[in-house]
Amino acid sequence: MPQDAPALRSVLSLAPVIPVIILDDVDAARPLAEALVAGGLPVLEVTLRTPNALRVIAEMAKVPGAIVGSGTVRSPLQMEQSVHAGCQFMVSPGASPRLLDAADEIGIPLLPGIGTPTEAMTASERGYSFLKFFPAEAMGGAPVLKAFASPLPDITFCPTGGIDVEKARTYLALPNVICVGGSWIMPQDAIASGDFKRIETLAREAAGLKKPA
Ligand code: 3PG
Repeated sequence: MPQDAPALRSVLSLAPVIPVIILDDVDAARPLAEALVAGGLPVLEVTLRTPNALRVIAEMAKVPGAIVGSGTVRSPLQMEQSVHAGCQFMVSPGASPRLLDAADEIGIPLLPGIGTPTEAMTASERGYSFLKFFPAEAMGGAPVLKAFASPLPDITFCPTGGIDVEKARTYLALPNVICVGGSWIMPQDAIASGDFKRIETLAREAAGLKKPA
């Protein structure tokens, strides 16, 4: 089955920014998700980069209003674990054939990553019209995505990697960008000190970013 584009579009349209979360402290999962949702960012990507990431996902999925996905998904096993933990979508830094084969068999949509036109075309040939542009800033940033728009008009991107609030504004002005991902909303020192009010404030600022009408 090709990518479930309508399902992914509805998730990616909910907010201009997806917080990309690296968290091992399960106790911080709920207050962090609550702060992000309260600030207006309901779509959360929890990367599978910590030993407790799946438990963090399961906790965040209990928060009313939160739409939780797994990130850094690299294997079929991680896809199964993501579904089991309560994810509603998955994100990967890449788009390997094995990963796309496995995604065909899984009931939640995958947003795979690409960095070049050839990778975007390869994913598009597999039925993918929503792609993550990663690592966005290191790959050349908004000018590169702007250059993709004319030759690849049927592909929509979520750039992630090295983005802050000002850069997010620039990306969101592009016609082929639906939302951006980033971790700037959750400074590690704010998580460590339990300063979830600060995170809610940063989330509110990010949620106020708009796609131009
Ligand atoms: C990541 O892979 O960690 C995400 O792309 C987030 O990147 P950032 O920390 O640069 O926002």
